[in-house]
Amino acid sequence: MSAPAAPSPALSARGLTRRFGGLVAVRDVDLDLTVGELHAVIGPNGAGKSTLINLLSGDLAPTAGEIRIGGTDVAGWPAFRIARRGVGRSYQRTNILGELTVLENVRLAAQRGRTTVGGLLAPAGRRRDIVAAAEAALATVGLASRAARTAGLLSHGEQRQLEIAMTLATEPTILLLDEPLAGMGPEEAEATGRLIAGLATRHAVLLVEHDMDVVFAIAKRVTVMVNGAVIATGLPDAVRADPQVRIAYLGEDA
Ligand SMILES: Nc1ncnc2c1ncn2[C@@H]1O[C@H](COP(=O)(O)OP(=O)(O)OP(=O)(O)O)[C@@H](O)[C@H]1O
Ligand SMILES: [Mg+2]
Repeated sequence: MSAPAAPSPALSARGLTRRFGGLVAVRDVDLDLTVGELHAVIGPNGAGKSTLINLLSGDLAPTAGEIRIGGTDVAGWPAFRIARRGVGRSYQRTNILGELTVLENVRLAAQRGRTTVGGLLAPAGRRRDIVAAAEAALATVGLASRAARTAGLLSHGEQRQLEIAMTLATEPTILLLDEPLAGMGPEEAEATGRLIAGLATRHAVLLVEHDMDVVFAIAKRVTVMVNGAVIATGLPDAVRADPQVRIAYLGEDA
């Protein structure tokens, strides 16, 4: 009997490149994201990790390259159209509205993911869908009991979890998470890492993260970027042992 075919990627980027004037922030990057395979992208500050997410989400247009989702090249599409293809992203800087409640923040995110231009007066059934999606997203990240709180009063770690809930509320297939653990204490980071590992069983997850303990504990595949380019990609153990990675990133002497 033949082995079961590997699941095909939900998103495939090829030759992805972004220049800012003379600077090549992302250089000829190939990347596959598959449901069930948590793919971490690591690299020093300025390596191009957030720019890569911005290209995949449509927040920035690539200078060159392809981004295939379900057979369609979406490179250069505006963010709202890419979002409709099932891509959700979180931001490195928390993007919440501190004056609103936790539930209101997630509802707005759910609404943004669904509302078409001119469709703000959603029928009641659609509003119920939005509330249900928002509540489910809050439950997933463990913030259900905080729904009525003013978002600005949450702890820093809870605000990062809310940021993840806001991404989930649009019910994406592909999740692009930009440093979701930034600023968390070790226990909170570990718990959120477990949450993200759980999400990766039913989403294709790209995790950009500096917390190496969490990355190497939960990633199925690790890609290392330096100066915009991929210097290594593969199974976590192989990447960790790669001499180029150790010198360029993990801070070891040659
Ligand atoms: N809009 C922009 N205009 C000009 N240069 C930019 C822009 N966005 C990013 N850059 C530059 O591109 C490079 C990559 O930046 P990017 O934010 O993608 O790095 P990063 O890997 O996310 O870093 P960090 O770990 O600090 O978040 C940097 O040199 C940055 O200054
Ligand atoms: Mg960044």
